[in-house]
Amino acid sequence: AIERTLSIIKPDAVAKNVIGKIYQRFEDAGLKIIASKMVHLSEVEAGQFYAVHKERPFFKDLVSFMISGPVMIQVLEGEGAIAKNRDLMGATDPKKAAPGTIRADFAESIDANAVHGSDAPETAAVEVAFFFPGMNVYSR
Ligand code: CMP
Repeated sequence: AIERTLSIIKPDAVAKNVIGKIYQRFEDAGLKIIASKMVHLSEVEAGQFYAVHKERPFFKDLVSFMISGPVMIQVLEGEGAIAKNRDLMGATDPKKAAPGTIRADFAESIDANAVHGSDAPETAAVEVAFFFPGMNVYSR
């Protein structure tokens, strides 16, 4: 099915100047960038976005990292976009990410891991609506 997924290029990858290289991978995989914006998140926004992780030991570090610099946020659309984007990203921990994936090539650590991508249709809808509330995503 044609899906939409929320993708974030995190502060480490933005600082490395590899937005274009990462966009190229999305496009080469047949994913369309149908919305995008660069944002320097506030602590409140980052905490709300990652609210599901609130009780995890890494939550505080995650929020401080995500507000350490601007991020590039986009909606990707295409056939099986959610799984396709996760394949492109590789494992959360770059040390475990398969060669040739975004995290293997551009990430340094599990915290500074270059990209975020929605993990399921339900979270994708919530995450897209969080950053692009005008996108008319209807769950039915
Ligand atoms: P992301 O896909 O953005 O979702 C939550 C983030 O928390 C994750 O990528 C990692 O960057 C970060 N994180 C730090 N430690 C962990 C951990 N032990 N397990 C999962 N995510 C972690």
